[in-house]
Amino acid sequence: MKSLVSAAFIVAFTHAAYAVEYAQIKSIFSQKCYACHAVSKGKTKGDLALDTPEKLAEVIKPGGQIVPGDPAKSSLLTSCKLPDDDDDSMPPKGKNRLTPAEITALETWIKEGAFTGSGPAPMVAPTAAAAPAAGAVQSWTSNDGKAIQATFMGLQGDGVLLKMAANNEVFLVPLARLSAESQAQAKSAK
Ligand code: HEC
Repeated sequence: MKSLVSAAFIVAFTHAAYAVEYAQIKSIFSQKCYACHAVSKGKTKGDLALDTPEKLAEVIKPGGQIVPGDPAKSSLLTSCKLPDDDDDSMPPKGKNRLTPAEITALETWIKEGAFTGSGPAPMVAPTAAAAPAAGAVQSWTSNDGKAIQATFMGLQGDGVLLKMAANNEVFLVPLARLSAESQAQAKSAK
């Protein structure tokens, strides 16, 4: 079968059905971070803003303060978890800190790929642990019946790294997003 898959279709395949949706994260950012980190408020302390798609794209990327699929490497999450008296804690000075439930939501959202729901799903850099591409393009199906052709690149957290045959870009697709059959395919792939 010839692959005629559009970028929009890839987004549809990789998006949706997450445990934590961006709306929930946006609400946390808005209540606890926008006062100092929003273009709309004219405040971008530390040159960081969390409200516009352009500014979020600078933050959410491999090597950024939010690394899609990798909470441990995401300095933004780390700074939210620091104790109140740590100089690098965010928000600073123990004021309006995140609740444990908000920390968990942020962590889960990052683990699931840190999708913001606008623009393309972020591409991810495979970690060293991820297996090199085996080269074989396989068919993958989502839990709502969409199918895509992609090469298995490895497992990362609760997601699978797939290189889309249509455009050779690598996406982190949450395992929960895949059909049971494709989840088994991912887990048995080498
Ligand atoms: C009262 C103001 C204030 C609030 C509220 C605040 N921050 Fe900050 N933030 C700062 C300042 C000031 C800096 C720059 C600190 C520095 O450079 O030493 C900063 C820096 C940062 C950085 C480091 C940027 C870099 O260079 O990598 C991150 C990440 C960050 N904040 C995340 C957050 C998050 C997430 C929230 C909300 C949960 C938040 N901040 C809320 C004032 C604030």
